[in-house]
Order: sequence, then C-alpha cells, then structure tokens
Amino acid sequence: MIVREAYAELPSTQERAVELARAGAEDGAVVVARRQSLGRGRGGRRWESPEGGLYLSVVVPAPRPVGLLPLAIGAELAEGLRCRHGVRIRLKWPNDLYAVGPGGEGGKLGGLLVDAVRAEGGSDRAVAGIGVNVRAAPSLDSPPAPAVALDQLTARAVALEEVERTVVDATLSAARTLESAEGERAAVARARGLLYGAGEPVRVDGRPVGTLLGIREDGAALLGTPDGPRALFVGELRPGYGP
Ligand code: BTN
Repeated sequence: MIVREAYAELPSTQERAVELARAGAEDGAVVVARRQSLGRGRGGRRWESPEGGLYLSVVVPAPRPVGLLPLAIGAELAEGLRCRHGVRIRLKWPNDLYAVGPGGEGGKLGGLLVDAVRAEGGSDRAVAGIGVNVRAAPSLDSPPAPAVALDQLTARAVALEEVERTVVDATLSAARTLESAEGERAAVARARGLLYGAGEPVRVDGRPVGTLLGIREDGAALLGTPDGPRALFVGELRPGYGP
C-alpha cells in the first residue's frame, strides 16, 4: 500500500518525505501537514505555513534531468486547478503558481520545490514539495509578495482534501510525462503557454535585465538583454520594472 502520512503539525513535510525516499518509499508516497513550523521555501527562505494551506510532499521517480520537474509539475498543477476549481493560474518562472485576476492583478497562490534524493538501494528519486494557499490567512498578506488564496478566487469553500488530490495527481502525472523526450518537449511547451510575464521587462534578483522572452528546451528562462539573449538557470525573476 502506498504511504500517506498526515500530521496536524510537522516542522516540514519536505524533510519527512526526503527521509522516506531515502529509506526506499514507493513512488506516490505522500506526507501532508495542516501546519508547518519550519516550512522551507526556495533559496533557503522560510515558507509561512499557517492553518488553511495545503502543505505536502510527494516521492516520485527522478527524471533525467531533474531540472524540468518543477516546471512540468507547475504546468500540470495549473491545468488541474483550472479543470477542477475553475481558476486561471500562470507559472512565474521557475516554480511559482500565480493567480491572475480579470484586471491583470496577480498574487502568489502557491510554490513548489524539488529535492533530488539517492535512495538506500541506489535509485534516484525526487521529492516534490508543494504549498498552496487554500483558505485566506492574515499572515499571507505580509510582504514581500502579494499572496492570494484559492477560496478568494473561487468564492466558495474548497476542501483541503480536494486540492490534495489535484496536487498529487498533477505531480505524478508530470513525473511520468518526463520519462520520454517527447513528454519533455510537451511539458516545456505547456509551461511556455502558461508563462507569467512573457514579453514584459523583468528584474532578476532585483536588477532590471531585459525582457522575458520565454523558456528554453532545457527549462532555463530566456531573457532578451542589451547584450543579446541570455539563459537564466537560477534566480528570482520578477516581471515589471516597478517596485
Ligand atoms: C517556494 O519557495 O515558492 C517553494 C515553497 C514550497 C513549500 C512547500 S510546503 C510543503 C513542502 N514542505 C516544505 O517545507 N516546503 C514545501
């Protein structure tokens, strides 16, 4: 039977799922918590995890290269949230789920990170950790990024279990898609179609660098700069030159 560990509170579902993956847990093993006291975001940042959000980590087979996995999961998840919850989500490269309102106003609905893990038997695995703001919580309004919750977008209460199913299905489906070269191309194409800020000026780590042109086949963001095209593999990309 596939493992599903559910907790009222954990330091981080990601750390627990990494332990399970190292110990040889099957693909699809899930760790979910209603709150996290030490939720981990990208780049060593803290992920605020108050009650009302979905915090989960899933063990999946590691595709090669593992770098496309966040984009592929983000694209599947955006599609799943659109189909099941009727919300329009864009991908803020590389792995933020961004909700865009009718007037173009946006807010971060969720984020994801992926850890590559070598299991005890020697197999390569990945752990995808996903956080989604399902119900609005006051602490989500804090800077730096405006946040939005699913129930603000759908105007109805959404059950955490419902979103959990959407997230787990999307994650497993993305990992399967990346098993073939054709699937890789399809995943990148899907991510391109959902890219937030395409064609707009962007800042990278706070500095204006040029225009966001798209996503390359290898998952890098493609920027148009005064010195010519530039590929970005890591960094915090923010569309718009505003503050
Ligand atoms: C980001 O920085 O945008 C990625 C955030 C990922 C947060 C999720 S919540 C579930 C899992 N457990 C963690 O500690 N982090 C990830």
